[in-house]
Order: sequence, then structure tokens, then C-alpha cells
Amino acid sequence: MAYAAGVDVGSTQTKAVVVDENEQIVGRSLIDTGANVVTAAEKSYLAALQGAGVDEEEVTYVVGTGYGRYKVTFGNSQVTEISCHARGAVRMFPGSRTVLDMGGQDTKAIRVRANGEVVDFSMNDKCAAGTGRFLQAAAFALEIPLAELGPTAMRAEKAVPISTTCTVFAESEVLSWLGKGKKIDEILLGVHRSIATRSIALLRRVGIEDEVTFTGGVTRNVGMVQVLNEALGLRMNVSEESHYMGALGAALFALDRIRSRKTPVKEGSA
Ligand SMILES: Nc1ncnc2c1ncn2[C@@H]1O[C@H](COP(=O)(O)OP(=O)(O)OP(=O)(O)O)[C@@H](O)[C@H]1O
Ligand SMILES: [Mg+2]
Repeated sequence: MAYAAGVDVGSTQTKAVVVDENEQIVGRSLIDTGANVVTAAEKSYLAALQGAGVDEEEVTYVVGTGYGRYKVTFGNSQVTEISCHARGAVRMFPGSRTVLDMGGQDTKAIRVRANGEVVDFSMNDKCAAGTGRFLQAAAFALEIPLAELGPTAMRAEKAVPISTTCTVFAESEVLSWLGKGKKIDEILLGVHRSIATRSIALLRRVGIEDEVTFTGGVTRNVGMVQVLNEALGLRMNVSEESHYMGALGAALFALDRIRSRKTPVKEGSA
């Protein structure tokens, strides 16, 4: 059995996925990217192999993706994260026509064909206000764990309007509302809604076509999923694998390479 792997070195977290020849995920891993991007890629890849019970020699092809894709020193080639998220989303949810990837630093809206090919995409400019970074800044300011952001926001009955358009000022705005006696859950609902509004503007640029599949680390935030679903008036596809969608797409591109190598050369065409 030959295996393929995808390593998605994101600005915030590094994900690795190992697939078998039947496109089944046999191992995965997720670690913080941290300061040493090369090491993060290696560590994450080795952890995914270990989880799969697969030796390095059994992996025939590795594709790197994400902002640090060229730091995957053991990778055979690189594919952009836009293509990888699109490919992974369509593999997991074949009806996907629109993909929203919310990561630690970027948010991307992608329109895809049934075969996973990218039709169009749009991403946030230099500003991280509509991304996971904004959520992390709010969590830091309010001193609550990242995993509790969504559940806390969901307890609110009304939202505090968040007006800042810059992550740098998110912390001070959150703290100033807190100083004015506003409740944490209401501030957080406001933060989630402000991010949702920005993401939906991005989605509109490429056109929102059902089904919409949500990918990236922010999919772990139940509050963000709910606020987006309400604002979009639909139910986005989300799964346990959503955080790994880019790495999965990369692994599938790696599998393509293995398959094309195996395709016998037609007589006379050599
Ligand atoms: N358990 C969790 N609960 C809530 N949110 C989470 C959790 N784990 C991760 N996140 C969110 O996911 C973000 C990281 O997502 P992801 O791994 O997709 O980013 P990335 O690929 O490193 O970034 P980018 O694609 O922008 O370079 C964090 O900023 C955080 O907001
Ligand atoms: Mg990413």
C-alpha cells in the first residue's frame, strides 16, 4: 500500500494528514506553528505518521500547502491553500460550491466546481479583523480560553456593537466595553457578528452558491458557526475534519501525483 500526505503550514497552526490509496484519512495531527516553521512542519508530519502507524518510507509523495508551504523541506511539491481547501471541501462534502476558510490570519471565500476546481476566490487584505486573529485578541483581552469564546457568546441575548475595523484596536475596544459595564457574553456576540459580517462580504464577492462548506480552525468555534448560519440563512457543512481540510486537499493532490506516475505510458508516445 502506498500512502500520500499533505502538510498545511498555517500562520497559526500546522496540520498534517496521511491518506491511503483509497483516499481514506489514516492519520492526522495538529500543532501550533510557533516561531520555527520548519520544525512545526516536521513535527506535525511525524505525529500524523505515528498516528497512522505508517513509516516514512511508505509515503510516496508529500504536498506542502499554507503560508509556510515552502518550509516543508521534505515535501515533493507545493500547492496553494486556496486549491487545497477547495479540493478537501469537495472530497468531504461533494455538494460544496462555496467554501469559507477562516484561519488564524486570513479568511478566504472560494467558489468551486463539482470536481474541486477553483472558479474564483477572494481574501481579506492585510487586515485581520475578520479572522481568527480577532477572536484570539478578544479571548486574550477577556482572559478566557479560545474554546470558550463561542459557547460564551451563545449565552447572550443581545450584542454589543463592535465598531473597530482593526485587530490592533480590538483588545482596547473590548476592554472599554467591559469598563462601561457591558457583559462579556454580549461583547463576544458582538465580536462574532462583526467577523461574520466581514466574512459574508467576502463570500458575496465570489457569489454565494449552496452548498457552503466551512473550513479552517474557526470551524471549531460553535458560536461562529451559528452566527454565520443565521446571517447566511442556511446551514454550512462543518465536520470534525474541517480544520484539516487544507491538509486533506494537499494529500489528495499528492495522491494524484502517485496515480499519474503509475499510469502506463502509451505505446509510441515515449
Ligand atoms: N479549539 C478551538 N476553539 C475555537 N477556536 C479555535 C480552536 N482551535 C483553533 N481555533 C481558531 O482557529 C484559528 C486557527 O485556524 P487555522 O489552523 O485554520 O489557521 P492557519 O491555517 O494557521 O491560518 P491561516 O490560514 O490564516 O494562515 C485560531 O486563530 C482560532 O481562532
Ligand atoms: Mg490556513
